[in-house]
Amino acid sequence: MSVYQATVSAPVNIACIKYWGKRDTKLILPTNSSLSVTLDQDHLRSTTTSRADPSFDKDRLWLNGKEEPIEPVGRLSTCISEMKRLRAAVEAQNPSAPKLSTFPVHIASRNNFPTAAGLASSASGFAALVASLASLYDLPATPSQLSLIARQGSGSACRSLFGGYVAWEMGTLPDGSDSLAVEIAPREHWPDIHALICVVSDDKKGTSSTSGMQRTVETSALLQHRIAQVVPARMDAIKDAILRRDFPAFARITMQDSNQFHAVALDTDPPIFYLNDVSRAIIALITEYNRAAGAIKAAYTYDAGPNAVIYAPKENIKEIAELLLRYFPQAEPFADPFSLGVDNHGRLPDGFNEKVAKTFPVASVKGFIHTRVGDGPRKLSATESLLGSNGLPTFLA
Ligand code: DP6
Repeated sequence: MSVYQATVSAPVNIACIKYWGKRDTKLILPTNSSLSVTLDQDHLRSTTTSRADPSFDKDRLWLNGKEEPIEPVGRLSTCISEMKRLRAAVEAQNPSAPKLSTFPVHIASRNNFPTAAGLASSASGFAALVASLASLYDLPATPSQLSLIARQGSGSACRSLFGGYVAWEMGTLPDGSDSLAVEIAPREHWPDIHALICVVSDDKKGTSSTSGMQRTVETSALLQHRIAQVVPARMDAIKDAILRRDFPAFARITMQDSNQFHAVALDTDPPIFYLNDVSRAIIALITEYNRAAGAIKAAYTYDAGPNAVIYAPKENIKEIAELLLRYFPQAEPFADPFSLGVDNHGRLPDGFNEKVAKTFPVASVKGFIHTRVGDGPRKLSATESLLGSNGLPTFLA
């Protein structure tokens, strides 16, 4: 008997123009367009195996080896039923296609980065879920069409269906059919962009993106200005900077937009703080680094938490890593997949004003992850399956 199964991996993305606010919370339609860089799956990825089998009792899903409930009207069940609907359309067109849309599915998913690192896993996770079901169901859908469904799992997930530089166009239609991800440029257009993720310790449980952004929509006057006046011009300007490979322009907009996102969080009632002292010290270091260089050589950006993501051309990463290691000493040497020869004792660039930040205790930054712009979802071979022949995960928590 045939086994109907597919395994796919999908990337993380980090926005340069932030998505923050929904105009429709059920369909996940945003109040502004956004734009991100897809990171390399060689370093950060979610891997998902989906299998359809008439002998299964019901749809089930395991995340990192732990079974997660599929709530009847929740985001997981929306994505799964939308994918089954697309499969049913294929079956209606082609009567000889097996009726996979009527079979329950088992789905096992795993992130290769620790959940505790505080990196957004919902984007890569929902992208991998949708891409694996698309592969299982052999759908003729484009990444943009799949992004319409991933968006209903988690807004930012729609951007992980493409590699490279990706926009989520907000759209205007009430049914959300024009609120989708599009590729601005593939990674090959500008492969030189690297990312250094600073994993910052955080004991407090922060406000989730989902609830935080709704509170911002309800209470922030500044958000209305951002939506109407700021983001549309920034979207045009950053797309242009990407197409021209203009790093200073790309970096300036990225930093301004991160700052404005955290400003609208602060403008929320009651206010939301995602940055902490370490996050702010990293902003000061990158600002001074650019000033001392007399040119913008790095950009910082922060999502709904204290971790910094530094974007920079590859040639600057060694210098930036040494600067950060000088202020944020590490117990373990920096594990660099690119072997840039980073000096773990840290080093200051010429002309750098040492006094802009204090030296923090060891482990204030838990670690650094060095990666770069990456490709879109990858189909993997059967040997990488996360489901065993019994239809249960090969790895249980
Ligand atoms: C700050 O996509 O996690 O990372 O749609 O409610 O699941 P939901 O929110 P989510 O929000 C991401 C917010 C952000 C900015 C961004 O990625 O654009």
